[in-house]
Amino acid sequence: MKKDILTLRDLSARDFEALLDLSLKLKKRQRSGIGDRTLQGKTLGLMFDKPSTRTRVSFEAAMVQLGGTPLFLNVKDTQLIRSEPIADTARVLSRYLDALAVRTYSQDLLEGLAAAASIPVINALTDLYHPCQVLSDLMTILEKKGDLENVKIAWVGDGNNVTHSWLNASAVLGLRLSLACPEGYHPKEEILNRALNDGGGRIQLTSDPHEAVRDADVIYTDVWASMGQESESLHRKKVFQPYQVDQDLVSRAKEDVIVMHCLPAHRGEEIAADVIEGPRSIVWDQAENKLHMHKAILKKLLTP
Ligand code: CP
Ligand code: NVA
Repeated sequence: MKKDILTLRDLSARDFEALLDLSLKLKKRQRSGIGDRTLQGKTLGLMFDKPSTRTRVSFEAAMVQLGGTPLFLNVKDTQLIRSEPIADTARVLSRYLDALAVRTYSQDLLEGLAAAASIPVINALTDLYHPCQVLSDLMTILEKKGDLENVKIAWVGDGNNVTHSWLNASAVLGLRLSLACPEGYHPKEEILNRALNDGGGRIQLTSDPHEAVRDADVIYTDVWASMGQESESLHRKKVFQPYQVDQDLVSRAKEDVIVMHCLPAHRGEEIAADVIEGPRSIVWDQAENKLHMHKAILKKLLTP
């Protein structure tokens, strides 16, 4: 049966381990100049309805480096905008492509597409989740800290799509996750409660960023207004100001804390310029690892 990655709940702990292991191996192999053309003859469609720099380019480069072909489809250039049903689109694209990565607004739309498609469908970000981001972030933490189990990850800011994927990952892997989100901007209750139930007591939610980062090994933040929330930007800037990851907040975590951001970043909003450019920031390595993790995902989904 074809396998999709629509949420991190689609993966078992063993799947996570296999992807992390493979992504780290692929990175090493690339560094040593060892090529891998196992996806020769395969085509990955990338159907995107929101902007993207990293996810698009890293999936495209991953496909090319593995010998396959990426095919980018802006949703606005498809018949979807003239009301062709999503299930018809899915069935037709399944006849041309070997896998499809989709960035869109609605998780329901993505799930409808995946249900009708006969090829693997990958969530490249929806309003609700960003699973591939968190997979590559786990790879980065493993690389930097050598372990996931004993690491405390502090999420500071909006309870958004990336937060939801962190909650899912934490529930499956039993990670230690501490979230600091302002009142009214907590993660969705259903996703949070499910993670709290399954997370073995290692997930916490607070409104106090100082509490969240205490003893943290990782501080993670993301934009205050996600794609599609631009009209709320001004209001959010006021609400989220106390949640800025600045030097003071970083100094309250462990001395060797790493600071992560999935990017794009807004300096002076969710992260201070001297933090993102400072010695604790690992955001460029983090962005690079999207390439290696996307390769691992494509190999796992597209090879027997
Ligand atoms: N982190 C991330 O998904 O970046 P893009 O929006 O540029 O793809
Ligand atoms: N939460 C952000 C992530 C961007 C990669 C957004 O959805 O815009």
